Amino acid sequence: MRDVKGTLVRDASDKGAIEWAAGILRSGGLVAFPTETVYGLGADGLNGEAVARIFEAKGRPADNPLILHLWGYDALNQVVSEVPSEARVLAEAFWPGPLTFILKKNDLVPDAVSAGLSTVAVRCPDHPVALALLRAVGRPLAAPSANLSGRPSPTTAGDVLEDLAGRIEAVLDGGPTTHGIESTVIDLTVSPPVLLRPGAVPPEVLRKYLPGLVLAKGVLPELSGGEGGKGDDARPASPGMKYRHYSPRAQLILVRGEPEKIPLRVRELAQDLSGMRVAFLVTEETMVELSGMVNGELVNVGQRNKPEGIAAGLYRILREVDRTGVDVIIAEGIPLNGWGVAVMDRLLRAANGVVEA
Ligand code: TXA
Ligand code: MG
Repeated sequence: MRDVKGTLVRDASDKGAIEWAAGILRSGGLVAFPTETVYGLGADGLNGEAVARIFEAKGRPADNPLILHLWGYDALNQVVSEVPSEARVLAEAFWPGPLTFILKKNDLVPDAVSAGLSTVAVRCPDHPVALALLRAVGRPLAAPSANLSGRPSPTTAGDVLEDLAGRIEAVLDGGPTTHGIESTVIDLTVSPPVLLRPGAVPPEVLRKYLPGLVLAKGVLPELSGGEGGKGDDARPASPGMKYRHYSPRAQLILVRGEPEKIPLRVRELAQDLSGMRVAFLVTEETMVELSGMVNGELVNVGQRNKPEGIAAGLYRILREVDRTGVDVIIAEGIPLNGWGVAVMDRLLRAANGVVEA
């Protein structure tokens, strides 16, 4: 056990660590724990006072509701008033896993969880530590990503401590998370269902189960036929999607467009920024073209057509380059296939400006 500014850190594999963390949660404390996506900041999801402390610790706006984490589909009836048939089919296909449903809540769910809405977000995480903890507590856990509000989500226990040491009781260290990007959030209380946040389950995979799925307003306009979300049938996004998100401290400029044009555009930008400390977050393919051609740190985010790999390292890399104290981050956009949708959603939300190559 380590003590970092009053926050206790324990290896999840230590004997008794899960029971210890469950005890803290049962008595109203806050414990960060790993999921397959990112680390979550957990509180007893049926205890309004414990849940309120999450908002305080993160500096999270009170109108941004939380996800309730469940140990399985059989726990769903504890917190929702209705289970539509799509939820059953999707849970069978994707749970445990990175897919969050919005459903009608029941009276046991405190207002603090749902931010006063009549709906609640639920998911069953695919991580042995998260599942063991949920079973040990025996209650759903409310858990947003375990970062200070607005910062990149944490993919290691160290990232959690960077933001929240001294603000929460404990961290269960289960090593780095595998997916590195948050769950996909879909609203099943409306017809047709709406994708509120792209995540680790790509839209084209969901459309096999939900052919009518539409994208919420503000989710990558390019994907909804150009005008995206501006039309009459646009649905409002999740409350959380209106805030600036996933942001490093440095200014972030996103460069997107035809892959062949990106290296030249990045070099032009780099010239305009001479005198500033710049980091370049580029694909392996672009890195080859830029090597020796720009001043600053070149960081390889992965292969352009392997968005899973890019997603897995994205938040870690944003935090790492930020720690070096650069003034500007120039990040390369990637194609909107598979997990590329979620990666681009996060980069657009983190960006202070977008440049077309
Ligand atoms: O992968 C994940 O989803 C991670 C891990 C820890 O499970 N959690 C996570 O939680 O990303 P958070 O709080 O950072 O993001 C939850 C998103 C927010 O955009 C929030 O606005 C939305 O889900 N949300 C939660 N409840 C909602 C509701 N009732 N209606 C609409 N959107 C909701
Ligand atoms: Mg978050």
